[in-house]
Amino acid sequence: MDVSTAVKQRISTRAFLQTPLKQEDVADWLNSAQRAPSGGNVQPWRVIAVTGDARQAVIDLATRTLIANPTGEQTDRPIYPPGLGEPYMARRRRVAAQMYEKVGIAYDDKAARMAWMAKNFTFFGAPVGLFFVIDESMGHGQWAHTGMFMQTLALLAEERGWATCMQECWGMLRPSLKAHFGLGKTEMVYCGMAVGYPDRDHPVNALQSERATLDEFAEFRGF
Ligand SMILES: Cc1cc2nc3c(=O)[nH]c(=O)nc-3n(C[C@H](O)[C@H](O)[C@H](O)COP(=O)(O)O)c2cc1C
Repeated sequence: MDVSTAVKQRISTRAFLQTPLKQEDVADWLNSAQRAPSGGNVQPWRVIAVTGDARQAVIDLATRTLIANPTGEQTDRPIYPPGLGEPYMARRRRVAAQMYEKVGIAYDDKAARMAWMAKNFTFFGAPVGLFFVIDESMGHGQWAHTGMFMQTLALLAEERGWATCMQECWGMLRPSLKAHFGLGKTEMVYCGMAVGYPDRDHPVNALQSERATLDEFAEFRGF
C-alpha cells in the first residue's frame, strides 16, 4: 500500500471485529512506527498495549470510575481548551452530528448520545487498546510529536488491514489510569487508541468526515 492510499483510507473506526491481534504483530507494528520523528529525537512517548484480561480490567476501571464521576476526573490538560471558538466548535459539532446520524441517534437524544460515547471506553469493541504515556514535564512540542507517532501507527495499521481510533477520551481518567498502570511519579496518560480489524458493515464506519478546503487552511506566497 502506498502512503497516499493509507492517508486517504484511514478513518476513525468506531466498530471493530473481535478477531484478536497477536503480540508479535502488535510489537512489529509499534517497532515500525518508532521511526516517527520527534524534536531532538527525544521520543517522548511510551506505550502500554492491552488485550484480553488486561483490556477488560481497563474497561472495568472506566465503568467504575465514570459511574462515580460521569464528567471525568480532574486534569490540568483538558481535551479541548476552554471556550473553543469558531470555526473549531462548528467543525466539532458537525462531525458529531454526522456520526450520530450514521448510527440513527437524534442529536437531541442525550441519553442515546451518552450511551454511544460510552462505547469509547470499550475501545469500540477493538481487541487491542493502546495508551500513550508522556512525562508531565513535557511541553506542547512533545505532545505534538507524540501525535506524529500516533498518526504513523494509524497509517501503518492500514497497511496491515487493521483500523484505528485515536481516543483522547481516556484523558478523562488520568488519575485512575495512572494508578492502574502503576505509572512513574511524573508520568501521565495522554491519549488512547483502539486497534483491530474494522467492522466494515457497521454504519458508523461509513462516516467520511469533512475537511476545510485548501483556501481555508493554506496560503501561498512567493510562488
Ligand atoms: C488525538 C485524537 C484523539 C481523538 N479522540 C477521540 C475519541 O476519544 N473518541 C472518538 O470517537 N474519536 C476521537 N478522535 C477522532 C476524531 O473525532 C476524528 O479524527 C475526526 O473527527 C476526523 O475524522 P477521521 O479521523 O475519520 O478522519 C480523536 C482524534 C485524534 C486525532
